[in-house]
Amino acid sequence: MLNFKENIRVAVIGASGGIGEAFIAHLNAAPNVTKIYALSRQGNTPSGGKITPLKLDLTDSASIETAAAHIKTEGGLDAVITATGILHDQDANVAPEKSLRDINADNFAHIFAINTTGPALIMKHFLPLLPREGKSVFAALSARVGSISDNQIGGWYAYRASKSALNMLIKNASIEFGRRFKHAAIIGLHPGTVNTGLSEPFQGNVPEHKLFSPEYATEKMLTVLNSVTTEQTGLCLDYAGEVVPE
Ligand SMILES: NC(=O)c1ccc[n+]([C@@H]2O[C@H](COP(=O)([O-])OP(=O)(O)OC[C@H]3O[C@@H](n4cnc5c(N)ncnc54)[C@H](OP(=O)(O)O)[C@@H]3O)[C@@H](O)[C@H]2O)c1
Repeated sequence: MLNFKENIRVAVIGASGGIGEAFIAHLNAAPNVTKIYALSRQGNTPSGGKITPLKLDLTDSASIETAAAHIKTEGGLDAVITATGILHDQDANVAPEKSLRDINADNFAHIFAINTTGPALIMKHFLPLLPREGKSVFAALSARVGSISDNQIGGWYAYRASKSALNMLIKNASIEFGRRFKHAAIIGLHPGTVNTGLSEPFQGNVPEHKLFSPEYATEKMLTVLNSVTTEQTGLCLDYAGEVVPE
């Protein structure tokens, strides 16, 4: 896993999520990964060995800055995987919109804060932790439904728009960052439909063979991160390494 280098230092943001947890399990088993920062709101994911749990809340920019500053003092990072996001939130009474009639300003703001603004702040504070020399990767979990040209069925206004905007942020950051960090690849990742709490209420129409386990999806995405090139920076790639159209 992440076989592009020896002694790899990785941060996984969203360590408590279905996909984040599976990324950490794969990375923990990889001998060439020597340090894993597992960032979550509670900061209580498995620790010990090479895993250091840290607290980070995407809606609290000071917590993002503090976590990044801590990692900097310990030597920075070779890879950052942002595996956070929401589609629904029962506590906040947020569900994906079926129709324009369902649009609600507070719900929109809530989804954008976590799916778009949060990852923008992660880029601000975590991209500078990557090395100037040698391959490095920054990946943020996006979604195929953020593709404007691929949108066939509508609905899910805030989630779709938040991921389209995230894809633009990734492209933007790749341009700015690429001028100074020539070996960094900054990409979005579409994991497929993965059996986690996020997709659970919407799995009804998903054929069994298209519902991936978190272990399978993250193994595929790590293969993509291994082979990603700087020519692909700014793109959103799916679990098979195919480009998700804009
Ligand atoms: N599952 C799928 O089928 C699928 C498909 C396409 C794209 N994706 C994308 O994949 C990513 C991961 O999703 P998942 O399926 O693993 O969902 P998940 O199991 O619900 O995990 C979501 C993660 O986001 C974290 N999070 C939510 N709000 C946060 C905040 N304010 N600050 C910090 N962390 C916060 C959660 O932390 P807490 O535990 O603290 O709530 C959790 O770790 C998302 O971006 C999602 O859009 C998933």
